[in-house]
Amino acid sequence: MSQSIAVISGKGGVGKSFFCVNIAAALAMRGKPALIIDADSGMRNADIILRKSDSFVYDLSDIDKGNCSVGDAIVGVAGGGRLALIPGAKDPDFIPSPEFLKRLAEEAGKKYAFVLFDAPAGAGAVVRSAAQAADSIVIITNPQKEAALPAAAAAETVWKLCPDKPTSVVINRVDPKGLKKRDMSPDQIMDACHARLLGVIYDTDEVEEARENRRLLVSGKSREAVQLRNIAARLCGERVPLLL
Ligand SMILES: Nc1ncnc2c1ncn2[C@@H]1O[C@H](COP(=O)(O)OP(=O)(O)OP(=O)(O)O)[C@@H](O)[C@H]1O
Ligand SMILES: [Mg+2]
Repeated sequence: MSQSIAVISGKGGVGKSFFCVNIAAALAMRGKPALIIDADSGMRNADIILRKSDSFVYDLSDIDKGNCSVGDAIVGVAGGGRLALIPGAKDPDFIPSPEFLKRLAEEAGKKYAFVLFDAPAGAGAVVRSAAQAADSIVIITNPQKEAALPAAAAAETVWKLCPDKPTSVVINRVDPKGLKKRDMSPDQIMDACHARLLGVIYDTDEVEEARENRRLLVSGKSREAVQLRNIAARLCGERVPLLL
């Protein structure tokens, strides 16, 4: 059965798109076809991270308007299409309805084991649609209060809309040397977000190095690549250590 996940945050720039792209790639590497739906209207960038910006005609809004089929809008990225993307709408005013996104996830779910909605920051209308449409929610935050408290606020808004939806949190860009003064601990973040911990990812310069070498972080041998692959394994129902 296919799983759809809304990837949300409080503050912007905490690593939602980084997470979607790397986790989808890790899932595809495990033989689980994964589709990223870039739901960041007007601010799409999953296509840029995946170097597919020159490879598509249609975006998410074209499916909604009936300009193309779901299949027409899917861009194959790697693994013979096991990793794929629906590019986000260029139009910043495009707000997909929960019903549209749910229908899309169901249709894509016939081919993809995982459908990841790469949402904008905050708890605006697009985020609420993605949260309502998806089977579960993953909140991405950085450890600092400035990121974790807005993450908790977004989680609360979404929880009020869909209280029964399984929700987990990923703490990204953690200093491997330990918690800093303004950091909240994983326990405090889980409490604030009312979510279980799906994983922790260290802050690393290897993101840049991987970019320069035209690959994704998750394909390498670093600790952070293993942390990402372990999160993908947990999404597949395996029990794997946190690697802290
Ligand atoms: N673990 C990490 N270590 C180092 N850099 C990271 C890590 N995670 C993400 N980044 C970098 O942080 C920046 C922001 O990431 P990203 O674009 O994924 O955030 P976002 O939450 O999707 O932002 P937005 O809210 O604007 O959509 C990018 O340059 C990304 O490469
Ligand atoms: Mg993003």
